[in-house]
This record gives sequence, structure tokens and C-alpha cells, in this order.
Amino acid sequence: MHALDVIVKKRNGEKLTRKEIDFFVQGVTRDEIADYQAAAFLMAVYFRGMDDDETLWLTQSMLHSGDVVDLSCIPGIKTDKHSTGGVGDKTTLIIGPIVAACGVPVAKMSGRGLGHTGGTIDKLEAIPGFRTNLTAQEFTENVRDIGLAVAGQTGNLAPADKKFYALRDVTGTIENVSLIAASIMSKKLACGTDAIVLDVKTGSGAFMKTVEQAKALAGKMVEIGRGAGKRVTALITEMDRPLGLAIGNALEVMEAIKVLKGQGPEDLKEVSIELAANMLMLGGKGDLEHCRKLALQAVSNGSAFNKFTQMILRQGGDPAVAEDPSRLPWAPVQAEWRAEKAGYIQSMQAEKLGAASLALGAGRKTKSDSIDPAAGIVLVKTTGDRVEAGEPLAVLHTSDKTRVDAAIEILRDSLLVSDEPAEQRPLILGFV
Ligand code: URA
Repeated sequence: MHALDVIVKKRNGEKLTRKEIDFFVQGVTRDEIADYQAAAFLMAVYFRGMDDDETLWLTQSMLHSGDVVDLSCIPGIKTDKHSTGGVGDKTTLIIGPIVAACGVPVAKMSGRGLGHTGGTIDKLEAIPGFRTNLTAQEFTENVRDIGLAVAGQTGNLAPADKKFYALRDVTGTIENVSLIAASIMSKKLACGTDAIVLDVKTGSGAFMKTVEQAKALAGKMVEIGRGAGKRVTALITEMDRPLGLAIGNALEVMEAIKVLKGQGPEDLKEVSIELAANMLMLGGKGDLEHCRKLALQAVSNGSAFNKFTQMILRQGGDPAVAEDPSRLPWAPVQAEWRAEKAGYIQSMQAEKLGAASLALGAGRKTKSDSIDPAAGIVLVKTTGDRVEAGEPLAVLHTSDKTRVDAAIEILRDSLLVSDEPAEQRPLILGFV
């Protein structure tokens, strides 16, 4: 079998066999198939799609491309959560500590930024010293000892996804239901948890632009997870507007800390509590209403904040950051973006806000790019707000002031202001 034959078969729209998919995934994992062929394969899948069988085989092949963590030595129902990617989505930093503080173990493997969306690993690495490259043993020990670990795909977990993910990020091959489902579920199943809550985002800032697409992706992932014997539930959540006000790695850590201290933006709190409650419910803590109360209590009594500090300490980071977020990287340049006319903000498209944050240095344009942890945007106004001409809409943070004009250009394009107040969709748009 040759990589070229598999690429051509998919390019021609034919169904691949399990053997062909295994061959290709193994070849990529072992570096026997070059990046350019892997990229061509991804583009062929992007345009031609995969059916349910192929998606399942791809997931299984990626799952078995590396180690599978065995968490069976840890008592209780071990839980995990994954977002399909959004802008300003820092919920993992909030939910992990909440759920662990309520006594349900959280074992979470996260990714880096993808396209215009941010990644939890990049966010955590903004904390000085924080290690995301845990070995499988360290990962398991942390879950056992403190009930919480958030790590990157190291220790040889789903290495095929790691390779495909980095290539998809820079080849325009992200937004495909099968590729997203296989990427997420291979990681989730490799993580060895019993229960998984999926946060499937929809809207301009998400990869799934419509609720229907989001439901199709959610359905596919839930089916794969349940087929593997896991408790899985999916929430469809709003991503036309960013979650919270901060976009960019260190800025998002600061905002997550605020929420863990009982402050922070309402939308971020609402989505975080809802996802945490669903994890607690799958973790056997009672019905959803009761679990919402438990999650809120963990914030109000400070136990979630303490768990966050414990996780930082355990993963080698500077725990003083939690009490004093000014220890996080801070950009030397701050510039205001001001409104050109008065009115109500109808929309600030999340995708463009993500792209502007990337232009300020918060993300990657090529595989080897390094990111500026301090770069990003803090919104002063958001969708639905009234704004007067000349008022600041956002503050841009960057280490390179030559990037500001390009970012403002993108931001201008994201904004729709009109005379009438905007209607807003609810934050939770459905369950699967
Ligand atoms: N998150 C992932 O882990 N993979 C994707 O493909 C998209 C979001």
C-alpha cells in the first residue's frame, strides 16, 4: 500500500477501508509519511468527507496510535470535558477546579490554539513555569492525588492527532465534522476517563457555523463515545460572540481567575457552571439542579479557587499567580480601539475577534510559530451594549506595536452597530 494511493482514492471521493486508514494514520505517526502527503490527505477528506464507518475507524486508529491512560486505579467516576473550539473560551480553567473541588476527578487532555480559536494548553503555559507536558504516569498521579490534571498530548497519547492537528491548523482543513470528531474523541478516549461532557460551539467564532452543523457533530461524537462504553453528553453553546471579555492567553487566565473568585463576566460564569454541573451529574453527584448548586457553592466557598492554585503548584507553575495575576505576562503595548459611530452593538463577530487577537501575536500562522502569551484583546463593550462615538470598544495588548493597525482593521470588519438594541440568542442552545 502507498500513501499516494490512499490520497488519490479519497480525492476521488471513494470510501476508504479500515486497513487503508490504519496504514495512513500509522505512517503519519511514525513519520513514514511526509507532512505534505498528510496535508494532501487532510484536504481530500475536507472536500470529500468521510462516512460514519470511516470516521469511527479514523478515531480508533488515532486513539491506538499511542498509549491509552489507565485510570482504573483511581476510585470514582473520572470525568473529562472538551470544547470544539471558540474565542475567549477559557472554561476549562474554571470548570476543572470546580468539578475537582466537588469531589469528582477530572482528567483533561487539551490542545493548542487551532485557527482563530485559542487552546487551553497555550493559556496554561502563560502561567510562569506551568508544565503541560506531563507523562502518562504524572498525569495519573495528579488525578489520583489532587483530583485534577490538565495536560497536552504528551506521554505519547494520541500522537497521530497531535500531528494532524498541527497540520490542520495551518492548511485550512479544520472545519470538517469527521476530522473534528476523530480528533476530539481519539484524545478523549485515550485519556481513560469514564464520562465526557462535550461543549460543541456554534456561531461565527466556532468551526460549526450553524446549530444544525453543531448538532450533527455532537451526535457523531456522542455516538463514538457511547459506542466505546463511556457516559457522554454534549451541550450546544453560543459562539457568535466571544465568551467573556478577554481573548488571548494570559488575559484569559486573568479572567478565569476572576470567575473562580466569584467575579467576572456573567456569560462566562453561566456557561462554566452549566458545563461543570453536567460533569458533576455524569460523575454521579445527583440531578442537574443539585449539581448546579454544588458548582456555585464551590466558587462561593473558595474551594474551586484553592483547587486551581493546587493544580498550578502540582504542575510546576507559580501558584502566587492565582492571588496576584499581575505576575502573568503583560504586554508592553496597549492601544484602544474606539467606536466610529454611536448606536447599539448588533454583533462583534467572534471569528474576526479571534483573527485580530492572532494578528496581535496570540496565535500561530505556521506550525513553528511561537506565540506571545501577553497578546490579545480585552473588550470594553460587547454585543448588545450601547456605545457612543469615540468611546473605547476594546483594549489591544501586544508586544509589537506594528501589529496594532492590522488588528484594528480586522476588528472594524467585525463590528455592526445600529440604532436598535440587539436581540441575543441564549448561551445554551441545545443538548445531545
Ligand atoms: N478541538 C480538537 O481537539 N480538535 C479539533 O479538531 C477541533 C477542536
